[in-house]
Amino acid sequence: MGFLEDKGRARLFYKYLSTVYDRINPFVWDERMRAEALDWLDVEAGDRVLDVGCGTGFGTEGLLEHTDDVHALDQSVHQMEKAFAKFGTRDRVAFYRGDAERLPFADDTFDAVWSSGSIEYWPHPVAGLREIRRVAKPGASVLVVGPDYPNSHLLQRLADAIMLFYDAEEADRMFERAGYETYEHHIQQAKPGSPKAITTVATVPDS
Ligand SMILES: C[S@@+](CC[C@H](N)C(=O)[O-])C[C@H]1O[C@@H](n2cnc3c(N)ncnc32)[C@H](O)[C@@H]1O
Repeated sequence: MGFLEDKGRARLFYKYLSTVYDRINPFVWDERMRAEALDWLDVEAGDRVLDVGCGTGFGTEGLLEHTDDVHALDQSVHQMEKAFAKFGTRDRVAFYRGDAERLPFADDTFDAVWSSGSIEYWPHPVAGLREIRRVAKPGASVLVVGPDYPNSHLLQRLADAIMLFYDAEEADRMFERAGYETYEHHIQQAKPGSPKAITTVATVPDS
């Protein structure tokens, strides 16, 4: 397990990263990639949508272009303060401080769930994916963005030491273990040479 796959360490990491996050993020996860992912998630006006690990609200902002019923959760108050500055604390978005692996929502609450760039910090990603399945309605779309596993042996060792990086086979295993039956993966990249993201779009099964 990587150094940052620890909730306390990830919180501390984001206490500092939050100050520069919005300036660094576009190098790995930009508006074009977000728009492509939003097309795959296919949110309709009026849908109730959850953003898990919303951070400073980059994904949240994209979701608001499609529906006005957006709920967003993060474990880092420092990250969320940046999101509050953009959207207010309770005006356009319902914010929750909480843990992706223990979502504070009833079963079958959401029409769609989005999570970009957060799963790599969860100590138990399958537990988080199960929680997402639980709070999403049967038939809902779920979209999860994580870091793609690098090709070179050296980068793989570095990646493994930091946090979860995964390839399509590992994504298949995680989504299957979390109870999803249909899912597909897409590889996204901001620019040639920048780190790749693996974006999974899954459908919540009926039971
Ligand atoms: C790379 S940022 C992604 C932020 C945003 N989703 C985006 O697309 O820019 C990762 C976020 O996941 C949050 N996070 C990490 N582990 C979490 C957990 N167990 N529960 C909730 N949020 C978590 C971090 O606090 C951080 O804000």
